Amino acid sequence: MRTFQTSSSRGAGSPDVAGFYELDTGSIQYVVSDPASRRAMIVDPVLNYDPKAGRTGTRSADEILRHVEQAGLSVDWVIDTHPHADHFSAGAYLKDKLGTRLATGEKVRDIAVVWRKLYNMPDAFEPSTFDRVFADGESFDLGTLPVRVMLSPGHTLASITLIVGEDAALVHDTLMQPDSGTSRADFPGADVATLYRSIKSILALPGTTRLFVGHDYCHDGREPAWESTVAEQKASNVHVKDGVGEAEFVRIRSERDRTLPLPDRMLHALQVNLRAGRLPEPESDGHRYLRIPLNRF
Ligand SMILES: [Fe+2]
Repeated sequence: MRTFQTSSSRGAGSPDVAGFYELDTGSIQYVVSDPASRRAMIVDPVLNYDPKAGRTGTRSADEILRHVEQAGLSVDWVIDTHPHADHFSAGAYLKDKLGTRLATGEKVRDIAVVWRKLYNMPDAFEPSTFDRVFADGESFDLGTLPVRVMLSPGHTLASITLIVGEDAALVHDTLMQPDSGTSRADFPGADVATLYRSIKSILALPGTTRLFVGHDYCHDGREPAWESTVAEQKASNVHVKDGVGEAEFVRIRSERDRTLPLPDRMLHALQVNLRAGRLPEPESDGHRYLRIPLNRF
């Protein structure tokens, strides 16, 4: 099975985008780099987690660290596009290893409000655990490449798309590959119509823009895949290709979401990911514990 692939720069103004497929959760982690300066950012890294044993691991993050070292990259940022519900973020682990900065979208504050209540942890999830939270429309430089942050809510309140240079966008859990459609929009704070509008903003980018998605579940047994273009998505995405209006999308997406079980890691993951992947402090016996609200979903 193919679990790693680099989408090479098309020339000046275009990044290299290395994708790492995480088998347990079907997540794609990215190392995006500027070929001219060798500056890089890591996007949506996974801290491995076995929910049956309550055990975390760094296999996936260590693979990224090896890649960064072998490719001679300097990492400026580790960015979570949103607080993930299906896996733990390796953001804090990679920050500690690389001395880099951690960032996410500023609306993470609104998601923290929702989950503080659900966990009854009124003082938890300070945004200061992130070194920076990006507002809609903010930009920063990755070496010689500009990166623009576009708020893309729907799947979550806080999701951000990262538009890198002239021809690449990391669209996380909005679109999936054209044969798979779109991401779910039924978690607390999610909204299907909002997701549709966020996707339309992404599909307003130039047709040749490379799009990199956050998940792939290997439709009909094919190999994992995570790259498409705006033109391909508009021509053939099974949920949002040209001609599908908002009302039809809301019906298709809502019907599908009603059939999906909650991710088995959601209640575990949010309390970690709202702290940028930092595990809870050890208690008096030296061990760390998660908190699970009962009968809330
Ligand atoms: Fe997600």
